Amino acid sequence: MRFLQGLDEQWLFLEAQKVKESVFGKKVFIRGVVEFSNYCREDCLYCGLRRSNRSLSRYRLSETEILDCALLGIHSGIKTIVLQSGDDLSYGTGKVAKIIRDIRKLGDVVIALSLGERNRDELEIWRESGADRYLLKMETFDRNLYAIMRPGKIFEERLKVILNAKELGYETGSGIIVGLPGQSLHSLATDILRLTDLKLEMIAVGPFIPHPDTPLKDAPPGDPLLTIRAIAILRLLNPYANIPSTTALQFFGEEWRIWGLSAGGNVVMPSLTREDVKDLYNIYPGKNKGYNYVTDLLQETVEMIRRAGAEPSFEKGYSPRGSYEKSTQK
Ligand code: 5AD
Repeated sequence: MRFLQGLDEQWLFLEAQKVKESVFGKKVFIRGVVEFSNYCREDCLYCGLRRSNRSLSRYRLSETEILDCALLGIHSGIKTIVLQSGDDLSYGTGKVAKIIRDIRKLGDVVIALSLGERNRDELEIWRESGADRYLLKMETFDRNLYAIMRPGKIFEERLKVILNAKELGYETGSGIIVGLPGQSLHSLATDILRLTDLKLEMIAVGPFIPHPDTPLKDAPPGDPLLTIRAIAILRLLNPYANIPSTTALQFFGEEWRIWGLSAGGNVVMPSLTREDVKDLYNIYPGKNKGYNYVTDLLQETVEMIRRAGAEPSFEKGYSPRGSYEKSTQK
C-alpha cells in the first residue's frame, strides 16, 4: 500500500531494477504480436473491441495472412509469436491448431496464445500442437469491480482458464488494468498479491485508457506513475517473471514506457499486425498508431530499448522460474 502511494519510490525503482538485472541482466525480450481478429463476443466496459461498439469495422485475417505477419517478424529475428484476438470463436480448435503447427514450421519460434476464455480441451490440443505460452489477464481481482466491468462474465471461470493453462504446462501469464473506474488503491494492492499467489511466468500491468466508443469514455485515465509502481512491486515479488513495459504506457508518452523498463520491466511486445488492419485493433485510443510499417516499428522498438540503457534481445526468453526451461524447452 505504502509503495503504491509513493513511499520510498526511488528505492523501489532501483531495487526492482537490481532484482531484474540479477535474473535477466540488461536484456529486454522482444515479442511479436499478431492481432488476427478484432471480432469479440464480450462486452467489457473498458474495451474498444466490445461487441456493442458498432462504429468499429471488424476484420478477420485468413490463415495465410496470419502466417505472412508471423513470417515478417521471424525474418526480423523475432523468436516469440503471440497470437492474439478478441474472443472470436470462429477460429475453432482445429483451425488454431493448424496455425500453430504451420507457424512452427516457419522457424524456430515460441508460440504464445492470447485468445480469451477457451476450454481445457482446446488448450490441451493447442499445447500438443506446439504452443508454449498462454496469456489471459484477469483485469481485476476485485469481484464487484469485475462484475461491473465484464457484464455477464464469471470471475471463477476466467481464473479457471489460467489454472488450466498452468496444469497443462503452459508458461502462463495474467495481469491487471490500473485505474479502472471504481478501483481503489486497496483493490490494486490486493491484485498485486493475488497475481503473485498465482506463481505466473508472465505478468502484465497497463494503465486504463478511456475509449471514446465505450461507456467509460468520460472516465479519467489510469495513472502511469501508479502503473510503474505496480510493475516495480510485482518485480520484487516475482523475480523470475517476464514483465512487459506495456504499450498502453506509451499513450502517456514514450518516456513512460522507457521508465517501465527502468523499474522492473523486461519485455516489450510490438505488433506485427498488417498495416492495413492494425488501426482497427483499437482496444484503447492510440493503440498501434504512430508508425506506417511493421519493420519501422521493430526498429523503433530496438531504439527505445537502447534509450532505456538496456539491450534488445531476440532470444526466446523463457521465464527461469522453477524447472520449466529445462523440462520443456524445445
Ligand atoms: N485501457 C487499457 N487497457 C485496456 N485493455 C482493454 N481495454 C483497455 C483500456 N481501455 C487491455 C486489457 C486486455 C488487453 C488486451 O488490453 O487488459 O486484456
